[in-house]
Order: sequence, then structure tokens, then C-alpha cells
Amino acid sequence: MKRLTVPKIRAHKQDGKVEEPLVMLTAYTARQAQLLDEHCDMLLVGDSLAQVIYGLPSTIPVTLEMMANHAAAVVRGSYHAVVIVDMPFGSYEQSKEQAFESAAYLLKASGAAAVKLEGGEAMAETVAFLNQRGIPVMGHVGLTPQAVNVLGGYGARGRSDAEAKKIVGDAKALDKAGAFAIVIEGVVEPIAIEITENVAVPTIGIGASGRCDGQVLVAEDMLGMFERVPRFVKKYGDIAETISATAAQYASEVRSRAFPGDEQTYQPKK
Ligand code: KIV
Ligand code: NA
Repeated sequence: MKRLTVPKIRAHKQDGKVEEPLVMLTAYTARQAQLLDEHCDMLLVGDSLAQVIYGLPSTIPVTLEMMANHAAAVVRGSYHAVVIVDMPFGSYEQSKEQAFESAAYLLKASGAAAVKLEGGEAMAETVAFLNQRGIPVMGHVGLTPQAVNVLGGYGARGRSDAEAKKIVGDAKALDKAGAFAIVIEGVVEPIAIEITENVAVPTIGIGASGRCDGQVLVAEDMLGMFERVPRFVKKYGDIAETISATAAQYASEVRSRAFPGDEQTYQPKK
């Protein structure tokens, strides 16, 4: 199977509509990518790896090197989905030139096809600059976790008219600037619908609306790796329970010398 491309993702939305919603999940490791790849149109190497993989309190400390290493693993582990890599906080906001240098590094180091960055209006010029120079960009509006210190938390955005207007304007600016798709995270539903109906490119919702042109979740949240997840997550599995029960069984067999048995032990040739 040939790998999907960014233009194919973009072309999924025609005349303001998608026939079938786009499917995106996060992946940070080769094995995770192998397992998720065939089911997804896009794999996102999200900077949410901060919390999920590294136990960090926010995405602020994530570095370009961390993103490049995980993105390379995900590209090696997949052959079907488009791999998109998050630009970490501090690697693109200063100027469009800084953004190009960081994005080029990420794509060279990993083989990913595109980057995602947070922000709307303020990032529009940067999105156009990158796109014109060979780097497709996915936008991300609404709750933008890298701005947690400005927003003051991870609550849903757009509850006031002014904020709603700002978020819709952000998405329209990214659309105009040439973003190939836009993630809408953590907003009250009418905003997600208004954006989806008013931008040419596919919208990918997370805590947004079932009427977005696609959906994304953090894979570990959806797989049931964590006890506490945001309201917008639906747990489709319970791998935390599976891992815990399996580790308990292993520990018990090691302690009782039931493992390793004859089957797991080499003997010299007779
Ligand atoms: O980092 C991430 O996982 C993301 C998605 C939740 C959109 O940005
Ligand atoms: Na992210």
C-alpha cells in the first residue's frame, strides 16, 4: 500500500464537505505506529508525549530533539498514514525563519510529511512561509496547550462572544494562509461547527464536535491507559488493566519459580 499524502488529506474535503470523516490518532513509538497505522489516515506525533511518555506537567519543556526522535520512530513503524509532527513550544513562535529552520530539521530528521503548530492569526504568516517553501502545515486552534500559562488552564475555550469570534477568526486566517487542515481542540460545539462550515480545509476535532471533518484523540487515552482522562475522551479499551494484570502474573511466576520453565530455557545439544 502506498502512503497517503498531504494533498490527498486536503482533497478529502470538497465543496465544504467530506464524504467520510478523517481518522487521526497520536503515536510516539514504532510499535504503537505499527499497530495504529492501518486504521488511520494520519498519525500525529503530538507534543502530548510530554505527559504521556515523559511524565512532564505540560508540553512546555518538549524539545525539537525529542520530537525528531519520536517522529523518526513513528515513520519507521508505519507505511500507510501521513505522519505529522508537532512543533514544540519555543521552536517556531519567534519568526517565520525560526519556524522554517525548526520544521526543516524535524522533517529531515524523521521523514515525516508535515508539521503542526499552535496558534491562529499570529501564525498565519509563518504558515504561508513554510507552505511556500515545501513544508505543509496543520493548524491548531481553540485550546492550545502550549499557551497554558496564558490561558490559565485546560478548560474549554470560546464561552464568551469575544473569545468565540477570536477562535473562528484564527481558523479562517490559517485556512487563508494555506494550512492543509486545522485541529480544533477544546471549544464549545457551535464554534467547531461554524469553523467547519467556513473553512475550505478539513477540520479535525478533539473535544470539539462530531460535525468536524475528522477526529483525533491521544491514543493512550482512547486505549484506556489512564484512569483520569478529559471529558472529551471515550475509552475504547482498558490496556492499563491488561498491563497491570499481566505484570502481576509475571511477578507472581518469577517469585514462585514457575517462570522460566523448560520451554523458555536453553539446554546444551546432546
Ligand atoms: O499533542 C497532541 O496530542 C495534540 C492533539 C491532541 C491534537 O496536539
Ligand atoms: Na500537541
